[in-house]
Amino acid sequence: MPTELLDKKEARIRRMFGQIAPWYDFLNHLLSLNIDKRWRDRTARLVPPGPASAGPMLDLCTGTGDLALTYDRAANGALSIVGADFAHEMLVRAALKSDKAGAAARVQFVECDAQALPFADNTFQLVTISFGLRNVTDMDKGLREMVRVTKPGGRVAVLEFSKPRNRVLGRLYLWYFRYLLPLVGQLLSRSKESAYRYLPASVLQFPDYEALADRMRAAGLTDVTFEPFTFGIATLYVGVKERASGAT
Ligand SMILES: C[S@@+](CC[C@H](N)C(=O)[O-])C[C@H]1O[C@@H](n2cnc3c(N)ncnc32)[C@H](O)[C@@H]1O
Repeated sequence: MPTELLDKKEARIRRMFGQIAPWYDFLNHLLSLNIDKRWRDRTARLVPPGPASAGPMLDLCTGTGDLALTYDRAANGALSIVGADFAHEMLVRAALKSDKAGAAARVQFVECDAQALPFADNTFQLVTISFGLRNVTDMDKGLREMVRVTKPGGRVAVLEFSKPRNRVLGRLYLWYFRYLLPLVGQLLSRSKESAYRYLPASVLQFPDYEALADRMRAAGLTDVTFEPFTFGIATLYVGVKERASGAT
């Protein structure tokens, strides 16, 4: 596998997502056969938003804002939601979608790096990240930042691709992921950064299941659990930020 495919320097990742932004939603839904929408809905059902009084929520690496807007619907518009990403072109589309959904007053978008968040400690009741952590240059730093801005007792939810454990399905998936998806994605998006060859490469080398749960624990989360979706093609990981000892 050419090593430049897995070059995760911030500038390259930002440029890559900036370039595919116009195609991102269309290709996401096409290449996942629309399953990605169900994964986001399921995430919001399994990790539901709390009441507005518990504080705002943050959707990190929000891209075109799909998970942030899924949570806006799940909360019936009662929650203040921040979507953060460092690719400007993605956020432009996120803001348009939020406007169209009538959510602009509740869902705000902030351009920033996941490894240095411009938010105070203990701000959010819930911090989510879907299909983003894999792309963050230093994912442990990203995780620690997520934990830092989460309120004590609040939750961190990571939705990310994983490798199916079933052997037959795993092979089928690998074929689709290695050959068909990069071909279709590259042809349609004409990404100069080979974004759709980067995608399978980045998933195959990314920790999943217990390995990722361990990294979340190392970042300061407790009660970390994970639930595979659709035969383990994606997995939802959830952890809780410990309350300071002596606090109620
Ligand atoms: C695959 S997209 C996922 C978008 C969206 N969450 C979804 O579920 O479709 C990954 C996003 O992560 C963003 N990203 C990657 N590294 C980042 C970083 N260090 N800081 C902020 N955003 C980052 C990219 O710009 C891109 O929009």
